Amino acid sequence: MYGLVNLAVQDLVTKNFGEETWCRIKARAGVEEDAFLRLTQYPDKLTYDLVGAACAELGADASDILRTFGKFWIGFAMKEGYRELFLISGRDMKTFLANLDNLHARLGMTFVGMDAPSFVVVDKGPDELELQYYSSRPGLTPFVQGLLEGLGEVFRCRVEATIVSTRAEGHDHDTFHVRCTPIVAADGAASLKGG
Ligand code: HEM
Repeated sequence: MYGLVNLAVQDLVTKNFGEETWCRIKARAGVEEDAFLRLTQYPDKLTYDLVGAACAELGADASDILRTFGKFWIGFAMKEGYRELFLISGRDMKTFLANLDNLHARLGMTFVGMDAPSFVVVDKGPDELELQYYSSRPGLTPFVQGLLEGLGEVFRCRVEATIVSTRAEGHDHDTFHVRCTPIVAADGAASLKGG
């Protein structure tokens, strides 16, 4: 995966557990790079090894780490210069998710040859949708759950993303049921997070 992903893992670990823990995780994963380059492609195995090493070092489940990482990724992407891309991709969760393939396609101009996932939205009524997640990579279901929770903070809604079915059960995609309940501000507005 592109170095930007590994940089986000690094940022998450160092912010929460410090530089020393990050060095131990890198060493345990057998990663020799001093620093990741955001626009360089690294083997997927490296990213999976980092997650595995973080589990061992922090005594946490991979699913918890991936979910936390998903949530973290949204704020990370915003701060790394992709805020505008969020803003033009939809003013509410449903529109945004329906545009997610376009968002990744635009990113493909910078991250040339990226192996992006694909998402299909099925409308299930006000504040509810079904999300289908297609990917060539295994094991990232909790990452998507965390991403959805992180998006809730952007779109000012409380997100409940439950897994309906998974590739692990033999389907060709994962399916989530997503409920996005607007958090109404004191002035009555539920709007896209600014700043
Ligand atoms: C502007 C914000 C975003 C940026 C800059 C971004 C960028 C990327 C990049 C560079 C990769 C690695 C692909 C590769 O190296 O082959 C990736 C993977 C991924 N992205 Fe995004 N992305 C963004 C938003 C999102 C959002 C909002 C979601 C879902 C809600 C999402 C879902 C995923 C998933 C699940 C993967 C893992 C790869 C896979 O499943 O095969 N991304 N993204």
